[in-house]
Amino acid sequence: MSYNRPMGGSSHIPPAHFSSLTPLYDLFCALIGLGKPFRREILRHLAAEPDERVIDAGCGTGELLRLLESSSVSIKAVGADPDGKALALARRKLESVGRDVEWVQASMSRLPFPEASFDAAVSTLAFHHIPAEDRLASLREVLRVLKPGGRFVLCDLVPDAPSAAARLAFRLLSLLEPLQDNARLAGMLAEAGFSEVSLIGRYRGIIGYFQGRKRN
Ligand SMILES: C[S@@+](CC[C@H](N)C(=O)[O-])C[C@H]1O[C@@H](n2cnc3c(N)ncnc32)[C@H](O)[C@@H]1O
Repeated sequence: MSYNRPMGGSSHIPPAHFSSLTPLYDLFCALIGLGKPFRREILRHLAAEPDERVIDAGCGTGELLRLLESSSVSIKAVGADPDGKALALARRKLESVGRDVEWVQASMSRLPFPEASFDAAVSTLAFHHIPAEDRLASLREVLRVLKPGGRFVLCDLVPDAPSAAARLAFRLLSLLEPLQDNARLAGMLAEAGFSEVSLIGRYRGIIGYFQGRKRN
């Protein structure tokens, strides 16, 4: 297990916006319906294969990696996030169940790995926390560290939910969160250089799961 020094931008929005609320983030997610079923759906789309090396970029408190590590598939997992407090929680959580994850304190825009390091990458609800000016560069950075043919599953809030209630929820959340680029997630993935970009699923209408691939 490693716990690296910060790389990349020093300012970031913490998981629950205020650093003091980070210990409550998992509880908050469970209360608003972003608990295990939501994350299992991401893992279903990620479809990790045995021995693959997978990075969760913007891993926060490590909930997704905890579920991934507790599944029957044995993978080599890396969790990256600029937030030291969230990473410390994630590390403790995974250590307490004896799981070996590599933790890296880094922004998505500067991942401290050579090109073609990963078979797959995933990022959940982190995109809108990235400073707007770094978002495209962050997607390009994920592309850089993927192996040719590697896949990226990105999920975040989207404005075009089928139900009016979910669309209203998105508009209200936009008052609190910097969601202005979330209407063009697919376009930005393509602009960053991903191929085969598509919306592969939704969760409760308001969260979109997107996939892109690095060309062979
Ligand atoms: C809402 S939380 C999501 C955490 C986790 N992925 C999940 O699904 O619970 C957003 C995360 O994005 C991280 N973040 C903020 N800026 C970032 C950046 N530039 N690069 C990568 N992650 C970032 C935050 O530290 C936080 O952990």
